[in-house]
Amino acid sequence: MVQEFKKVGVVGLGTMGAGIVEVFARAGFSVTGVEIDDAALDRGRGHLEKSLGRALSKGKITEEEHAAILGRLVFTTAREDLADADFVVEAVPERIDIKRDVFTDLDRICPPGTILATNTSSLSVTEIAALTNRPDKVVGLHFFNPAPVMKLAEIVGTVLTSSGTTEIASEVAKRIGKTPVVVSDRAGFVANALLVPYINDAVKAYEHKFASREEIDESVTKAAGFPMGPLTLADLVGLDVCLAVMDVLWEEFRESRYVATPLLRRMVAAGLLGRKTGRGFYDYSGADNPAEE
Ligand code: 3HC
Repeated sequence: MVQEFKKVGVVGLGTMGAGIVEVFARAGFSVTGVEIDDAALDRGRGHLEKSLGRALSKGKITEEEHAAILGRLVFTTAREDLADADFVVEAVPERIDIKRDVFTDLDRICPPGTILATNTSSLSVTEIAALTNRPDKVVGLHFFNPAPVMKLAEIVGTVLTSSGTTEIASEVAKRIGKTPVVVSDRAGFVANALLVPYINDAVKAYEHKFASREEIDESVTKAAGFPMGPLTLADLVGLDVCLAVMDVLWEEFRESRYVATPLLRRMVAAGLLGRKTGRGFYDYSGADNPAEE
């Protein structure tokens, strides 16, 4: 079934979307990446080409594979180009009005059998599914940053998702080299419900001056062997995403451990979102070592 997919669509080519396009194309799928305008399309394509260029220069893919992957990619600003897509992943910003616009369009454009997957990390997949006339074919397919590297894909089923859709999404995840874990549509799903409060606690420790940011990060990397410390991870994930996840956890469960710490909220208000804006807990505006401010 999945091997018969002729075209996969990815809507939204930010950091996650571009990574998702890469993952599908490297697994042999023909992928059409859709963005809102030419500037966003160029940014997404640039991100992807850079990542593929790195893989080539490191010898992880050959010249031939590199050319074949690029040959499987189409970039467009026309959602109508997904009229013959078998499987579409949405990775647009985490706002329900934007999701509504995308899912209403996809529902109209794509054939009734097309599965519509969302990479949302903080919105309800059920709410997104209910925006369409095919809620049984809407599923969460939640990737982790950086998408080409992290092995987990959460498959988020809702009360409306058919078991066939969940199975196909799991099969897709395996085909692209990910380990699928089927989870319920609850705030934070599983991974973020564990990870993001931990990040929030680290921000709290920093806010209350328990230690410097480097010491907080090292306390985890050197004590527990995590690949990066929580403040560096917050910068990678995006402080806005962390805050959005904290807020939905609080909304849903009303437990004090899910209250976003004030510094996190203030940093988001100030636009200090992490790597994507050049500054978060660390400065990325040019220094090779992000810990140097
Ligand atoms: N795109 C593609 N490949 C990348 C990459 C990117 N953005 N960043 C790193 N890589 C690759 C490198 O090319 C390298 O590949 P190689 O080993 O084959 O040469 C490999 O990953 C390791 O990279 P580096 O040597 O440059 O650096 P590190 O060893 O420090 O690894 C890391 C970087 C993979 C990001 C590692 O630090 C890590 O695993 N960090 C934790 C990330 C994490 O926890 N992510 C989950 C966040 S939660 C989330 O995303 C949920 C969402 O809803 C918010």
